[in-house]
Amino acid sequence: MHRFVLYSMISTRYASFISGIIIASATWAFSLYLYSRLSQNSNTANPTMFVADLSRPLKESVFDQRVNHDHTGELVLRDNSISEFHHKESNGNEAYNSKGKKLNQPYQNSEKLLQQLQPLPVKPSVTLGQGLEELGMVRNVAEQQKRDEGYKNYAFNILVSDNLSLQREIPDTRHKLCKEQTFPKNLPNASIVICFYNEHYQTLLRSLHSIIDRTPKVLLHEIILVNDWSESDALHERINRYVNNNFNGKVKLFKTERREGLIRARMFGARKATGKVLIFLDSHIEVNKMWIEPLLSRIAISRTIVPMPVIDIINADTFQYTSSPLVRGGFNWGLHFKWDNLPVGTLVHDEDFVKPIKSPTMAGGLFAMDRQYFIELGEYDSGMDVWGGENLEISFRIWMCGGSIELIPCSRVGHVFRRRRPYGGDDQHDTMLKNSLRVAYVWMDKYKEYFLRDAKKVDYGDISERVALRQRLKCKDFSWYLDTVYPELVLPDDSERHLKDKWARIDQKQVQPWHSRKRNYTDQYQIKLANSALCIQSEKDIKTKGSKLILAPCLRIKSQMWHETDKNELILGQMLCMEANEKRPILGKCHEMGGNQEWRHKGSNGTPIYNMAAGTCLGVMRANRKSQIIMDLCKKHDSSLINWDLVRSKLPATEMR
Ligand SMILES: *[C@@H]1O[C@H](CO)[C@@H](O)[C@H](O)[C@H]1NC(C)=O
Ligand SMILES: *[C@@H]1O[C@H](CO)[C@@H](O)[C@H](O)[C@H]1NC(C)=O
Ligand SMILES: *[C@@H]1O[C@H](CO)[C@@H](O)[C@H](O)[C@H]1NC(C)=O
Repeated sequence: MHRFVLYSMISTRYASFISGIIIASATWAFSLYLYSRLSQNSNTANPTMFVADLSRPLKESVFDQRVNHDHTGELVLRDNSISEFHHKESNGNEAYNSKGKKLNQPYQNSEKLLQQLQPLPVKPSVTLGQGLEELGMVRNVAEQQKRDEGYKNYAFNILVSDNLSLQREIPDTRHKLCKEQTFPKNLPNASIVICFYNEHYQTLLRSLHSIIDRTPKVLLHEIILVNDWSESDALHERINRYVNNNFNGKVKLFKTERREGLIRARMFGARKATGKVLIFLDSHIEVNKMWIEPLLSRIAISRTIVPMPVIDIINADTFQYTSSPLVRGGFNWGLHFKWDNLPVGTLVHDEDFVKPIKSPTMAGGLFAMDRQYFIELGEYDSGMDVWGGENLEISFRIWMCGGSIELIPCSRVGHVFRRRRPYGGDDQHDTMLKNSLRVAYVWMDKYKEYFLRDAKKVDYGDISERVALRQRLKCKDFSWYLDTVYPELVLPDDSERHLKDKWARIDQKQVQPWHSRKRNYTDQYQIKLANSALCIQSEKDIKTKGSKLILAPCLRIKSQMWHETDKNELILGQMLCMEANEKRPILGKCHEMGGNQEWRHKGSNGTPIYNMAAGTCLGVMRANRKSQIIMDLCKKHDSSLINWDLVRSKLPATEMR
């Protein structure tokens, strides 16, 4: 089926490509010609002018050189070798064969050669003009300003968020077996607590709508919305009006009396709640299909289970929703939360992708907990400030005092991952440090020394209440936690021998990687400025991170061959990714997170090439050699400097050097 579609597409598109073939094959012809010329170490023609002369076809013997003697191209095929050659300019009206003889007679390319040299139509991956990509496209200065303001205030792209519907479909990222799960009728109901501070209006409302739309009425007791002293009164009023007019009293809006920070604002919200279960969510999320049932059904089994959903990714630049891998929470000795791969053997059978997975810690943003149990267990540490460290504190407390934390693969909640937190004072670092010290002194026994070793000493306040809590709850000690819950954690002074013993004991020499490093290449092509013979190549070689991109005469060399992946990355010579910087694209290490390394095009000739994160397109100031590639508006009066041909060849990548 797939194949059929592809073929019929090629044939219907064929006509439009015919015109492109002439120019493109001319380009190929030129580069092949150049191989032979260079191998002879003699004069070469000016490329641009040469192409202009293509009305006069080349003699086959030129190509024969290439076809029969591949090695002759060696010199020019090395990375970054172009600049080593100084093409002497000639008038360009003459073509030479490898022996330097003029080719004067008109000549028709053979069918076979035409086949070999023509560019192939590129599959239409995701086309421009539908879906999300258009939303982020910056069309004018006003939109650019709005976008920049948005990043400054919210650290995500409000241009996109504003234009997205408040109620939108998102991909169902669950494993197929999740869809077959059934749940008991009488699950406990939930109060959902969402705290926000200066949140973007539309994004907050989308969070609320997704919950209302995708949660069964009987299971949603209420949504407690806590405005943690946001600066704008108008924002509060606007939200209040919307909530009162739209959600039938399900959403209850509160405001703290001063800036509390996330930790105390959550306690404030939890104390207003009256449902059986508390579910803490962030204010820039979208819940997925049947997200709540798998969480509540775990708590129905035991009130001491603290389940958390898989946090899917809503791209901060594009608002695309994508699935997250199954990973669990851990930490390092700097007391920073980290994601860990799952122990080997966790995911073997299909059913394993549905079962709860024990997790040593939680990321903190999203989890469910029996409300009464939350209170009994000591809520949060109210001596902590603003944000940071509270997730490890509650994680240690849950495990050490008789509960457990579970990742629930069938429950999925998308979260806008921002590159930074947009607010919080300048003392954020010290807040995190102070909170971490409280965690260390209350919960970590002698193991706190690993943290204290490198930690600056600051006043962490009075911890006596929390120490008393630990005694009252008769919690286990930290060495129990490390041995039983998180044996994979390496202690700073574990010797190699000790580690081997330890890992033999837990049968865990390695962790299960959540994806392979193998990339799926869907396409490969040179990117040629339309109506020119100039292609995009790296200014330095293909291995230099940060290298800028320039126009250069099209040549079949690695530093011009872009490999497209199924994540819409453009990878030069299968090494580094094209990445949109503010003003221009550069080569960067592939991060597989989309955004500034995600490129869209129409898949045809004369297409703009659009970056999802930047909202802008590849362009040049002038159609000259060495002209730098820049990021430019995608819609321009004169489109000649933003339109590109994708030039494919049938030669497999392995034949290139
Ligand atoms: C975004 O919304 C504004 C105002 O509603 C509209 O003018 C603009 O065309 C929209 N942009 C896109 C890309 O849909
Ligand atoms: C939620 O459950 C409580 C009892 O635990 C009940 O009083 C309340 O009415 C329920 N809420 C809804 C919306 O059904
Ligand atoms: C590559 O594609 C295959 C088939 O579509 C898929 O199963 C696999 O997960 C993909 N690999 C990566 C690394 O995305």
